Amino acid sequence: MPDKFRRQKDREKMSDRHLKDNETVKNAYAGWVSFYDYTFGVVSQVGRKHAVRTINRRKGKVLEVGVGTGMSLQHYEKHLEIYGIDISPEMLERAEKRKNIKGLSHVKELKEMSACTLDYPDNYFDVVVGMYLITVVPDPNKVMQELRRVCKPGGELMLVNHFSTEKGLRGWVEHKMIPLSDKIGWHPVFPIDNVLGYEGLKLVGQKSLRPAGVFTMLRFRKVDKEAVETLGKKEGLNMPEDEKAVA
Ligand SMILES: C[S@@+](CC[C@H](N)C(=O)[O-])C[C@H]1O[C@@H](n2cnc3c(N)ncnc32)[C@H](O)[C@@H]1O
Repeated sequence: MPDKFRRQKDREKMSDRHLKDNETVKNAYAGWVSFYDYTFGVVSQVGRKHAVRTINRRKGKVLEVGVGTGMSLQHYEKHLEIYGIDISPEMLERAEKRKNIKGLSHVKELKEMSACTLDYPDNYFDVVVGMYLITVVPDPNKVMQELRRVCKPGGELMLVNHFSTEKGLRGWVEHKMIPLSDKIGWHPVFPIDNVLGYEGLKLVGQKSLRPAGVFTMLRFRKVDKEAVETLGKKEGLNMPEDEKAVA
């Protein structure tokens, strides 16, 4: 079966699994909230900081989808306008507290919202980023489409995530963890292919991150040739050189 059709079929199957609805995800994160920052929060910090350093080289409006307890917020530079959304009120409450304690005036909005139905206009953000999000949401296909929709043509969509492998001990452990998805709040088996090949999203960067390459940062450019040409003339689009081109 050609790659394009196989991916489409896989994407349709993606929602037919554990973590079927937003309520299950919300419950999982209500349970996580008090120890998130000291557990997964620590393990995932390298990837988070790396992504924010990359975003700090951009300009304009940044949407962080699934902002969680806001562990990234203090690392964004002040020339950016940061918007954060999350489905979990408990996680967001922590993010709000962090924003206030640290006086992060460039964080413009922290809002309860589902990544599946973003309440923002089309082509609105210069950067859209989801860190440790795409394996958590009930419908990753819908979320990818929403992230693409709200990103400006010429803008950047970024994912930092664990992607599964079919090989070795790691692959075996990931498969064994599937029944735990509802409890841990993410899908351990989620191949990188699930987020590749979306129309209008050109992969421009792929980097393995510490610890031990478990996490990967993916950078996509939203390409919409006509709109880039028109908008680019009007606004002088912020299109930096790619950090590392992907063959
Ligand atoms: C593993 S945490 C990552 C949090 C944060 N990005 C970080 O780096 O620490 C996943 C977050 O995604 C949020 N989430 C899950 N499903 C969501 C959805 N459909 N819409 C918005 N946020 C969602 C969870 O509530 C949780 O805060």
